[in-house]
Amino acid sequence: MRRQLFATKPLAMLLEELKGENRLRRILGPIQLTSLGVGAIIGTGIFVLTGKAAHDNAGPALILSFVVSGIACVFAALCYAEFASMVPVAGSAYTYAYATMGELFAWIIGWDLVLEYTVVSATVAHGWSAYFQDFIGIFGFHVPHALTRAPFDYDPGLGRIVSTGTTLDLPAIVITILICAVLVKGIRESASFNTGMVAVKLVIVFFVIVVGAFYVNPANWHPFAPFGYTGLSFFGKTVLGQSDAGGQPLGMLAGAAIIFFAYIGFDSVSTHAEEAKRPHRDVPIAIISSLVICTVLYIAVSAVLTGMVRYDQIDINAPVSDAFRQVGLPWAQGIVSLGALTGITSVLLVMMLSQPRVLLAIARDGLLPPSIFGAIHPKFRTPWKSTILTGIVVAVLGAFLPLRILAELTNIGTLLAFVMVCISVLIMRFTNPAAERPFRAPFGIAVPILGVVLCLLLMFSLPGQNWLRLFVWLLIGFVIYFSYGRRHSVLAKLNAAQDASGPAAR
Ligand code: ALA
Repeated sequence: MRRQLFATKPLAMLLEELKGENRLRRILGPIQLTSLGVGAIIGTGIFVLTGKAAHDNAGPALILSFVVSGIACVFAALCYAEFASMVPVAGSAYTYAYATMGELFAWIIGWDLVLEYTVVSATVAHGWSAYFQDFIGIFGFHVPHALTRAPFDYDPGLGRIVSTGTTLDLPAIVITILICAVLVKGIRESASFNTGMVAVKLVIVFFVIVVGAFYVNPANWHPFAPFGYTGLSFFGKTVLGQSDAGGQPLGMLAGAAIIFFAYIGFDSVSTHAEEAKRPHRDVPIAIISSLVICTVLYIAVSAVLTGMVRYDQIDINAPVSDAFRQVGLPWAQGIVSLGALTGITSVLLVMMLSQPRVLLAIARDGLLPPSIFGAIHPKFRTPWKSTILTGIVVAVLGAFLPLRILAELTNIGTLLAFVMVCISVLIMRFTNPAAERPFRAPFGIAVPILGVVLCLLLMFSLPGQNWLRLFVWLLIGFVIYFSYGRRHSVLAKLNAAQDASGPAAR
């Protein structure tokens, strides 16, 4: 059994699989891939979470939080780019772990990516709902109170979960169903729809930076770090910096751990490697360029936002559009809300596009039932069954769980995936030094090592209960693996057949 748990999928086998039947359509070029990256990145993080992070965690030092988080992501992105150029298949970090650390770790990462893509989608659906309500509110329309948001939330002032007096978040459910329908229809439709939305959101982000800059009052940047520059906890105990009433860490670093959410998505480009026309070249380009574009924009937006409105006056639901209301530009509020809505829609689209592709890769290896997760629609050539299943789970989570809890859970899961990818790149450098690497992360092994260290630092800066949630999640994953995956593993069957036919066959 130990042999199976740590059995790795040879690089040659992965590359051979690429030639097989039942593959996805190769139609994406570098611009579409970069735009899928930007589409997945700019959304709820910058348009919604900046409000909470500035207000509750970092103050104007949020600008530095974006720098720290961005640097951690650059190291991880370089590792993703190296691996994606070597093994351009749909499974992303899951496949990389299978090739280096073995089946059990691959499963852990695959399961962890569910946390990233599905839970991120639910979080983003909430962000969409907040801006939707902000937007229709400008015209005097309102969603009935009971259907405006999740029924409970975390109150940092009280340090505990409180009831919101509502039943569910209806707009979050509606947008999830609509996106799901587009995704089942096809990758070409999804990518074109995305490219249009990315153009709109980039225009709005530039608008926020340029127009907002005229309303910056430098006095709002003082004090710059009202909660300090740290905010590090260790399994729930704050070891560096201040904490809130519930013992959760506060400060610039704690802010970085929260707004790390804003960067999630560049890695989703690697899940489209199988649909890329020239994956070896275009996927690394798209991963790195989409991350760099967004990092620069984020730093500028956070500087403008915290300069326009004093950090403790920033709205926590629709902070960017509300900042324009506060400086006396109600017309701009509408434009920004509309841009945020479009931007967040594209994040939802790409994230819900990525999840079924990871599940597809796992199902091809036999670790999940191929009849559901491996099914490709005969006409649309999309993994339709798992797309619909993903949609159902996202809608349910989005309807009932609060944004903050979902966002933190996503962050810890994604950071773990980044740590594993950096470790996989390190392992691959030693186990397969001569393998062809169309893209190689620079500075030897420094990049993967720094990636691991910085991502771990951010993991520890998240409120402690996220570790517990992560362990529970992984435990559920173990149960599924040991009751299903281990018995149906294609690689295990292959190895067993080889053993049975004797050493001569090997
Ligand atoms: N980075 C994505 C967003 O901020 C997940 O919405």
